[in-house]
Amino acid sequence: MLVRTRSASDPQASEITPRHLFDQRRRLLAAAATGLAWWPAQRALAQRQGGEQKLAARPSSLSTTETPTPYKDVTTYNNFYEFGFDKDDPAKYAHTLKVRPWTVEVEGEVRKPKVFDIEELLKLAPLEERVYRLRCVEGWSMVVPWVGYSLSELIRKVEPTGNAKYIEFVTLADKAQMPGLSSSVLAWPYVEGLRLDEANHPLTLLTLGLYGEALPKQNGAPVRVVVPWKYGFKSGKSIVRIRFVEKQPVSSWTRVLPHEYGFYSNVNPKVDHPRWSQATERRIGDSGFLQRKRETLMFNGYADQVASLYAGMDLRKFF
Ligand code: MTE
Repeated sequence: MLVRTRSASDPQASEITPRHLFDQRRRLLAAAATGLAWWPAQRALAQRQGGEQKLAARPSSLSTTETPTPYKDVTTYNNFYEFGFDKDDPAKYAHTLKVRPWTVEVEGEVRKPKVFDIEELLKLAPLEERVYRLRCVEGWSMVVPWVGYSLSELIRKVEPTGNAKYIEFVTLADKAQMPGLSSSVLAWPYVEGLRLDEANHPLTLLTLGLYGEALPKQNGAPVRVVVPWKYGFKSGKSIVRIRFVEKQPVSSWTRVLPHEYGFYSNVNPKVDHPRWSQATERRIGDSGFLQRKRETLMFNGYADQVASLYAGMDLRKFF
């Protein structure tokens, strides 16, 4: 999100999955297309980063069949500015994040405001494994087997009033735990927002884990959202408050750079970011001939499911 060319923390050739492991993963994926059977083997190959608690999750028809990005890359190539600005900073420094006790306060335009304990959130609805593409505005992408359930499950429980038009997500901002807060690059806490119909869309995931275990700290433990048809920065990490509001919230990135980061931020290969083309992307973990750039798809490949949310809207204006 910052002005960066190739950083020292970009993956080196040596970090990219060796060919034989890639092939092995493909075979395992084919053999266990609907189960979690191969995740433990996959994880054993990777560096452990702290998401110790196992989460049983059923497969979801909303998953892509694309090969997931290796666990090691998913957990060491991160944006979580509260822990630093290099891609490997979150994996190095997020160990200071305390994820228990943890509550999420749901408030605003709802009939049943409630403070949810994280243990309650883990049981609120059956956990699903959702393998989604994640496209970062910086031009890289991943495929991540997230664990969670549709945010709509939570929304239903708190009964939004007729005035609730948007949802604001407020994430943790605690200087004692988060060294990155000493930087003034963003106005903390990191805030993001969605229109209520976007938040209620089945693809919008209240996310509690990845690769069959609780979220590693660098990926936004213990709870985040994932909105797969939008650029990654819309998917706020380590959420502590969810507010139902009447007016469109101002996201942290829009507040500091309104011409670069719009409220919608739907993945759109035809609308470039002022500093980056959005036409293509680099898939983290690709090796060999796959390493060349891939074409970015409208709504990150989820157009069939979400294009109707924006019918009649000028997506250049509402970027
Ligand atoms: N949430 C918080 N609280 N702080 C952040 O810096 N970065 C965002 C998003 N959520 C960010 C955040 C960005 S820019 C991206 S691309 C995704 O998290 C990255 O998620 P990942 O590290 O799990 O791949």
